[in-house]
Amino acid sequence: MRISVIGCGYLGAVHAACMADFGHEVVGVDIDQTKIDRLAAGVPSFHEPGLEPVLRKGVESGALTFTTDKSAIGDARVHFIAVGTPQGGGSYAADMSYVWTAVDDILAHARPHADGPLVIVGKSTVPVGTAQAIADRVAEAGLDAVVVWNPEFLREGFAVQDTQAPDRVVYGLPDDVLAGDTGRAVLDEVYAPIIAAGIPRLLVNYATAELVKVAANSFLATKISFINSMAELCDASGADVTRLAEAIGHDERIGPKFLQAGIGFGGGCLPKDIRAFMARAGELGVDQSLTFLREVDSINMRRRDHAVDLATSMAGGRLVGVKVAVLGLTFKPDSDDVRDSPALDIAGRLWGRGANVVATDPAGAAAVRSQRPDLHIVDTADEALEGADLVMLLTAWKDYLAIDPAHAKSLVATPRIIDGRNVLDAHAWADAGWDYRGMGRTASTW
Ligand code: UGA
Repeated sequence: MRISVIGCGYLGAVHAACMADFGHEVVGVDIDQTKIDRLAAGVPSFHEPGLEPVLRKGVESGALTFTTDKSAIGDARVHFIAVGTPQGGGSYAADMSYVWTAVDDILAHARPHADGPLVIVGKSTVPVGTAQAIADRVAEAGLDAVVVWNPEFLREGFAVQDTQAPDRVVYGLPDDVLAGDTGRAVLDEVYAPIIAAGIPRLLVNYATAELVKVAANSFLATKISFINSMAELCDASGADVTRLAEAIGHDERIGPKFLQAGIGFGGGCLPKDIRAFMARAGELGVDQSLTFLREVDSINMRRRDHAVDLATSMAGGRLVGVKVAVLGLTFKPDSDDVRDSPALDIAGRLWGRGANVVATDPAGAAAVRSQRPDLHIVDTADEALEGADLVMLLTAWKDYLAIDPAHAKSLVATPRIIDGRNVLDAHAWADAGWDYRGMGRTASTW
């Protein structure tokens, strides 16, 4: 199958590489020349474990090409839309301009196919109603094409495995049965290894497919904010949120995942998706249905305030001139993504309160250096720890979990640490002489 993937960011680049790995001929298109040059050379343009070998294999075999020339999509039977839908300026709603440009590009360059209608597959996270609007536009333009909405559930850091062996696939199909059958059959061929593996495939209408995606991310965000609200209760009452999460997680109906209390969620998806979802609910006249997401967002943002307040109080009430070593800047480990990163936000707020912030991150340093030249970024944890009055672990990179507390103590000025992700061994750090503080837990509960 000849496939085009429009948009080669975290989603599109991985999707293009994985589709080539499935045996298809894939062209990835993006407007960013630097990104395309790297991808075309088989080099990932971002940090994603496991992507490089798949990408390189596709490029070297000739099955996978990347270009900024939009006309290159012309021969494809299937066109994937994988562009970003960031939060729009001045509102909670998603900025849909990249999606509509992608649709315009398809209308301008896609050529009819001898085997039957073209299939346009939407993967971007969009407000409910978008797939139908795209289908209407395609029909008006007279292009013989079926639109299918196929949301993506990949997690950064696990993107290749989530694309090649997802938990489930969802096809949002048009109401027209014949068109729906074509869309399903073509997508089944594209995803042949996934279908052969018996991975659940759900056939639904457009609106359901669009909502599945934002509902899933809203649920995950709610789960994290739930445990973070429990962390607030634990702090107020002397309980331990990690033990509480462990105990409730044994209940199969609740489950142990996504109950890690800390400085909260960030990234290019969860925060903007819950906001765009609220905006869309308002447009649909059902804003009350999602009022709870406003609280989810507030709890999440309060975690950042809490971390800064705790740092201030541990430093004796003022941060001016206090040297704070920040370990981790990305929104989560195994990613170089600093979009809406709680860690970066906290580092910036500490700096704003006068702290002498020295930060480090195994993968996100380059992005931060260009976005926040005011922050002092060093290459290693040891450099950051040197002479620190306070240490804050804000992203749970494995390298930081492996730091020896005794060695770290020999580097700092004062052994005080905030574990913003509740991932360190509290006993080991306290035993080594550190004033250790977690999130939603106190020394008496470890
Ligand atoms: C999220 C979803 O998990 C994916 O299923 C979805 O496909 C993706 O968004 C998307 O919409 O494209 P991702 O943004 O990669 O994936 O990140 P997550 O693994 O969901 O983590 C989000 C944030 O929550 C991170 O900042 C993480 O540190 C935080 N988190 C996660 C917690 O604070 N506690 C937890 O227990 C889990």
